[in-house]
Amino acid sequence: MTTSNAALSNLGAIDAAHHIHPFTDMKKLNAAGTRIIQRAEGSHIFDNHGKKYLDAFAGLWCVNVGYGRKEIADAVYQQMNELPYYNAFFGTTTPPTILLSEKITAHAGNLKHVFFTSSGSEATDTWFRMARIYWSHLGKPTKTHVIARRNGYHGSTVAGASLGGMKYMHEQGALPIEGIHHIGQPYWYVEGGDLTPAEFGLRVAKELEAKIDELGEDNVAAFVAEPIQGAGGVIVPPETYWPEIVRICKARNILLVADEVICGFGRTGSWFGHQHYGFEPDLAPVAKGLSSGYLPIGGVLVSDRVAEVIMSTDGRARPRRHRPLFREGIAGPDGPRHGWRRPIRRPDGRRTDGLRQEDPPALRKARRCRNAGAQQMRRSWPDHARHRRPHARLAAADHHP
Ligand SMILES: Cc1ncc(COP(=O)(O)O)c(C=O)c1O
Repeated sequence: MTTSNAALSNLGAIDAAHHIHPFTDMKKLNAAGTRIIQRAEGSHIFDNHGKKYLDAFAGLWCVNVGYGRKEIADAVYQQMNELPYYNAFFGTTTPPTILLSEKITAHAGNLKHVFFTSSGSEATDTWFRMARIYWSHLGKPTKTHVIARRNGYHGSTVAGASLGGMKYMHEQGALPIEGIHHIGQPYWYVEGGDLTPAEFGLRVAKELEAKIDELGEDNVAAFVAEPIQGAGGVIVPPETYWPEIVRICKARNILLVADEVICGFGRTGSWFGHQHYGFEPDLAPVAKGLSSGYLPIGGVLVSDRVAEVIMSTDGRARPRRHRPLFREGIAGPDGPRHGWRRPIRRPDGRRTDGLRQEDPPALRKARRCRNAGAQQMRRSWPDHARHRRPHARLAAADHHP
């Protein structure tokens, strides 16, 4: 990034004045001053005074292949020039999206499908809705409850923070939301008492069975856990834990969701954490290592079992129901709410075209272009333009040469 020398020498003050850091006591931070990381190479980061640090954090559990990978930067640069963005609605997609879906699922065993998102938190919200839709489509609409773990972490959206078992996050806004429950964590080192790791692993896994009994099997949609609990303290479960969890999920017919946002893409030595423990989940949110942190991208890996049901053709299960917010940007179905101004009706009933004399010439030109484009769109797709008029006009602004 090129920034003026004046701005660079003043970065700390600008940060304190304008930038809110996540999960941070801002008063304390602003008093102490923030550490500004300016560049990185391999496994090392350098602050703005040139001091070198070993980045044992790997960004935030995400820079799996290290910093300074020119081949990634070059590929991103080339793609940005060729096509920086296009959507997957309306029967379209892009070559990198297709090829990436093939590449990821080639390493993911039974998880043969992927729904892309822009972060791990969105991936959490997405599988949460997918699981409920899955059961609803199988004629079991009461299977809506989801069981997660105390001290687990699944992101910072409302569903993510609710599924996470962090008390301080729940306190931030009347969370968890309805239908989310927590059981214990397989933290033998701190909570194991006199039990051996094997005994403790089984005991904690059986809490899932007890919770399902309490809620009623017909009311439970899924159980979610990180193969190795990351943000909660890097909690490696005893060897007996996962086999028992898998047995319970199968016996009780509930979906098993392995949160691979941290464990995925080689972090355990296998491609995914669930492979390390030798089991096959029904759904697996991913992010972070997917791009080694070079771009914000995530997704949900979906098994055939779930994909066949949610992609059934009864019209209600279309994947677009799961679209994350990012994909509803200015050119999306909700575009008018974000950027388009509804034409005003004059007293005589005629609509204005939105152009005003005082508008800068570039804006007037853009609006004229949009209106001309809308006419062209009405000619090309009359049904579309009639039924979704504001959207058609907005889309026309994009399509008009
Ligand atoms: C296991 C797990 N799931 C989900 C998330 C949320 O991912 P993101 O920060 O990309 O929203 C995280 C983030 O640390 C995570 O560790």
